[in-house]
Amino acid sequence: MVLLKWFVCQLVLFTAFSHAFTDYLLKKCAQSGFCHRNRIYAENIARSHHSYYKLDAESIAHDPLQNVLHATIIKTIPRLDGDDIAVEFPFSLSFLQDHSVRFTIDEKERTVTNSSGLLISPQRYNKTWQHAFDKKFQDEVNKTNFPELHFLKQEHTVNSFWSKISSFLSLSNSTNNKVHLRNGDVSLEILTEPFQLKIYWRNALKLIVNEQNFLNIEHHRTKEENFAHVLPEETTFNMFKDDFLYSKHDSLPLGPESVALDFSFIGSTNVYGIPEHATSLRLMDTSGGREPYRLFNVDVFEYNIGTTQPMYGSIPFMFSSSSTSIFWVNAADTWVDIKYDTKQNKTVTHWISENGVVDVVVSLGQDIPTIIDKFTDLTGRPFLPPMASIGYHQCRWNYNDETDVLSVDSQMDVHRIPYDFIWLDLEYTNDKKYFTWKPNSFPNPKRLLSKLKKLGRNLVVLIDPHLKKNYEISDRVINENVAVKDHNGNNYIGHCWPGNSIWIDTMSKYGQEIWKSFFEKFMDLPANLTNLFIWNDMNEPSIFDGPETTAPKDLIHDNYIEERSVHNIYGLSVHEATYDAIKSIYSQSDKRPFLLTRAFFAGSQRTAATWTGDNVANWDYLRISIPMVLSNNIAGMPFIGADIAGFAEDPSPELIARWYQAGLWYPFFRAHAHIDTKRREPYLFNEPLKSIVRDTIQLRYFLLPTLYTMFHKSGATGFPIMNPMFIEHPEFSELYDIDNQFYWSNSGLLVKPVTEPDQSETEMVFPPGIFYEFASLVSFTNDGTDLIKKNVSAPLDKIPLFIEGGHIITLRDKYRRSSMLMKNDPYTIVIAPDTEGRAIGDLYVDDGETFGYQRGEYVETQFVLENNILKNVPSHIPENLIDIHYDTLRNTNIEKIIIAKNGLKHNMTLTDRITVKQNGKESSFSTRFSHENDNKITILNASLDITENWELVF
Ligand SMILES: *[C@@H]1O[C@H](CO)[C@@H](O)[C@H](O)[C@H]1NC(C)=O
Ligand SMILES: *[C@@H]1O[C@H](CO)[C@@H](O)[C@H](O)[C@H]1NC(C)=O
Ligand SMILES: *[C@@H]1O[C@H](CO)[C@@H](O)[C@H](O)[C@H]1NC(C)=O
Ligand SMILES: *[C@@H]1O[C@H](CO)[C@@H](O)[C@H](O)[C@H]1NC(C)=O
Ligand SMILES: *[C@@H]1O[C@H](CO)[C@@H](O)[C@H](O)[C@H]1NC(C)=O
Repeated sequence: MVLLKWFVCQLVLFTAFSHAFTDYLLKKCAQSGFCHRNRIYAENIARSHHSYYKLDAESIAHDPLQNVLHATIIKTIPRLDGDDIAVEFPFSLSFLQDHSVRFTIDEKERTVTNSSGLLISPQRYNKTWQHAFDKKFQDEVNKTNFPELHFLKQEHTVNSFWSKISSFLSLSNSTNNKVHLRNGDVSLEILTEPFQLKIYWRNALKLIVNEQNFLNIEHHRTKEENFAHVLPEETTFNMFKDDFLYSKHDSLPLGPESVALDFSFIGSTNVYGIPEHATSLRLMDTSGGREPYRLFNVDVFEYNIGTTQPMYGSIPFMFSSSSTSIFWVNAADTWVDIKYDTKQNKTVTHWISENGVVDVVVSLGQDIPTIIDKFTDLTGRPFLPPMASIGYHQCRWNYNDETDVLSVDSQMDVHRIPYDFIWLDLEYTNDKKYFTWKPNSFPNPKRLLSKLKKLGRNLVVLIDPHLKKNYEISDRVINENVAVKDHNGNNYIGHCWPGNSIWIDTMSKYGQEIWKSFFEKFMDLPANLTNLFIWNDMNEPSIFDGPETTAPKDLIHDNYIEERSVHNIYGLSVHEATYDAIKSIYSQSDKRPFLLTRAFFAGSQRTAATWTGDNVANWDYLRISIPMVLSNNIAGMPFIGADIAGFAEDPSPELIARWYQAGLWYPFFRAHAHIDTKRREPYLFNEPLKSIVRDTIQLRYFLLPTLYTMFHKSGATGFPIMNPMFIEHPEFSELYDIDNQFYWSNSGLLVKPVTEPDQSETEMVFPPGIFYEFASLVSFTNDGTDLIKKNVSAPLDKIPLFIEGGHIITLRDKYRRSSMLMKNDPYTIVIAPDTEGRAIGDLYVDDGETFGYQRGEYVETQFVLENNILKNVPSHIPENLIDIHYDTLRNTNIEKIIIAKNGLKHNMTLTDRITVKQNGKESSFSTRFSHENDNKITILNASLDITENWELVF
């Protein structure tokens, strides 16, 4: 009895104070065979300085058709009897069109005796790039073989390239074993013995590949042969078995297969990227016994903060503050060690993947936006989301039935809280069977959708890749033979929400077709109902009884592919198949899909938004959400947010207020809550919380024209939406590790959300220039040349928010219930001049819902203020403007102009007429001014069309 009481006490204590993810479910590096082996190898090599890998200079050849350099890397395993073993690895190197360098290292054909009935291909998986790279390269796939795609093919380049190779060949000798290549601003040296690449940008050394000699490719050998194939620096730990408690059934059919390589970023001790991790924006040093960063898609409910443990998504893209990036094109379980070497002013990184090939793209440029531009050119641009989907999303696990949904819907309006999307989690289904509705709760989905549609609102429902056994959908998957298989070739059965489940194999083309057919039936809606969208959750995949919360690595996908090789792209294959299905279903109305995925990889940004998964309602998770969202933003996938105000547990009112004030800046703005939490739709809050949250959501809506313009910019160049300080101001090294304040794209909006309790002010960092407090336009000037720190006021109802001088932003500042209802509203522009009296701002407008923009149906313009003259300079107006205008673009007028007075060069002469110059002609309109305070002037009744050229003279 006493014991029991004690136990109950402990249990209560445990649940009250701990929201930790059960860490022991995941391997540490020392428990992961290949990670441990490569770390040990690196440690020993660092001492022995041996190198076993050389590039055979004699083997260098140039394929002039594809403009690829081919060679063989040879690994020599010394033997006491002198009968050394040589293993060959085909190497290729080429320049992409943007002058990025791509190189690959594969293993020469592996012959395996198939006595054990091997059900997977013995060859290394070399097709991750086909999933990661943009579809525009997919045509090339059919024409040419891996990896010969989109290289510089201009005749003159081929010639100069070839002549350099030729001259190298004639110069080649054992004492001068270097190849020099040049392509635009990039030059490169290949050193043969030991193998090394030195990569320069404008003659400055930026990256050394294999400087540390950590290159290690565990070539194929049988268990019996193994002893002869191990290098003196290697350990044989878990080469043919896995003794980790939760994955000890891994059959490891091909034994050790890992690939590892080091990259030294020269001239920088700051690296960023490789989301997803709940750590700082600037990546941490992992030397000295700390865990490497791990990229392995797993379900980490209430994940721990500040650790390098893996999470739901993986983007193996890293760059340094010296504008050099590597993209490690490998979807297997991957670990990355980082060591900052301040003495030598460089960063050494060590990349270790369980299998697959070495396939690396190195990009260089003058600044970091250029690097992200190149990365998203290669892997695809972030999709331009429907306008409604960048509004506010109301989600909960779960809205119980149609009445519940419609009551939330109407309460939001009663309380003047705008919203665009309402979500249904798992429980809307009939018995957790996807592609069905719970009959009594959602008897008429069409009726529900059509009610939501009246205000332009949308519904998202959850559909996951695990399918309950024994119902028509999973039966069909089995009958069509498109379920993921276990290592014996039987349909794999694991445990997930519905109990025993199978998994759709969307890695298979036919599997994708079957998946699509399910949506076609499920979304068989009248043509005017296109407001149903999908959320792919649990697609890491999450498997409750699987090793490390996910799929056994020896599962088998279509075409003899082992899960081990493609683990981190399975989730992408699920959401891409879903996207393709919805796009095709809505093709009649030309609607752009909105889609949310939990698992992601490089390339996911082409079709899906994501979020930071199962966080907890406390201040730590609010704080970490900002570097997490920033990290995805700089890795090409900006459409991300964190669950507001924490998924698990009940947030305090203060936390709710602060979380909405931070969340308003997430590109993806969604409230979500666990099924065990109290209801927290914003209208349920007491005052003043309710007003604070309402005003925050309204502010998001007022800013939609600016935010949509940022999404457009991101869709064109990959430019981050939540944008780190150091990208805007790389000249200040003090900003390299600031991740609690940020800009909104290049709009000049500068924010520092409050992420601590009990604050009435907060310290912000300001670069030189003039800054205007957003609401009042009260200004202050940092007229030095250094950063300054300044306390700014931040009571609970206030967001520390400034506009940096030099910017013009566009608003639609009338409260409306949804984004669709804002279409007829005129614009307001806010002008924040710099200390020279100049300002500039972009605006992008399209119909907000269709693919029409891809046919030129959009308006793009720039506002420029100089010498007290405001100009509108449209750079794109659709040819059929009139038709489009009345149909979808609707109101394109600016009605209100708010000017921050303090930055103006000359005093404005306030007359009641404003002069407008258009096509050389002058006219004027009578106006009214409003002076709220000494800092701003508002011109109230302008009528200036953004699709026309005009000048306004103050
Ligand atoms: C190995 O042999 C089995 C039959 O024993 C066959 O089903 C399988 O396809 C073979 N595997 C490969 C990779 O060829
Ligand atoms: C990719 O691997 C396949 C075998 O799986 C092989 O046929 C193909 O040649 C490989 N491509 C290159 C360029 O190594
Ligand atoms: C071989 O390398 C040495 C040292 O760099 C150089 O002096 C010599 O010219 C090279 N020989 C040939 C044949 O290119
Ligand atoms: C490191 O190298 C970069 C690039 O050459 C240089 O700009 C920077 O000042 C150096 N930093 C230190 C601490 O030496
Ligand atoms: C869709 O069309 C049907 C029939 O044409 C009509 O009855 C219904 O009101 C329409 N729904 C909406 C939301 O426009």
